[in-house]
Amino acid sequence: MARILIMFASSYGQTRLIAETIASQLRHRGHQVELADAFGHRPPAPGSYDAVMLGSRVHLGRHASEVLEYMVEHRGALAERPTAMFSVSMAAAGTAEADPNGYLATLFGAVGWWPSLSIAFGGALPYRRYGAVTRFVMKHISRRHGHSTDTSRNHEFTDWDAVVAFADRFDAEIEAAAAATGPDDPTRTASSPLRSSHLS
Ligand SMILES: Cc1cc2nc3c(=O)[nH]c(=O)nc-3n(C[C@H](O)[C@H](O)[C@H](O)COP(=O)(O)O)c2cc1C
Repeated sequence: MARILIMFASSYGQTRLIAETIASQLRHRGHQVELADAFGHRPPAPGSYDAVMLGSRVHLGRHASEVLEYMVEHRGALAERPTAMFSVSMAAAGTAEADPNGYLATLFGAVGWWPSLSIAFGGALPYRRYGAVTRFVMKHISRRHGHSTDTSRNHEFTDWDAVVAFADRFDAEIEAAAAATGPDDPTRTASSPLRSSHLS
């Protein structure tokens, strides 16, 4: 059993829903999982966790600055444990590509840190939750990209099987790191965590 932190940045709820689904799958696998809203209180440092997952929505081609700042501030501690990052965007809707618009590569390149695992998930178009201006703009962008322009309802593009599979991949990564460290290693504490093998 590992202690896992999942920090997420969500403006309209889809990234939060994905974070909650991953948390529930990792709990099902026997781990203790804590969720932290990047837009809420100052998120906890990685030091008290065996593994950390970060998730962010994409707005105007960028992930949330709160997530980027967390990476920069905690780069050293993150590099010492299994880590994962998921990105949520409309660019990733309807494709199995790991980083369709290069949003993740841009982020990791800017920070100079790469997690053990990363993936891009298709997000949502919650037209009914947008204000009038955002609904108008998103409808026109959606038309350009061939997504639904029916603003009378919300639309979801997340592949939930892929979300659960990503949680399982992270579980396998954590188990592999724990096996490499050894279950009875008396030196392993929260501040001396599992080692990440940095799979891509
Ligand atoms: C103001 C705004 C800007 C967006 N910009 C992008 C973008 O640049 N690229 C993209 O692929 N998706 C973009 N999207 C789509 C969001 O990434 C998608 O709706 C995602 O589900 C948002 O996650 P959230 O519900 O957690 O906020 C944008 C959405 C909004 C509302």
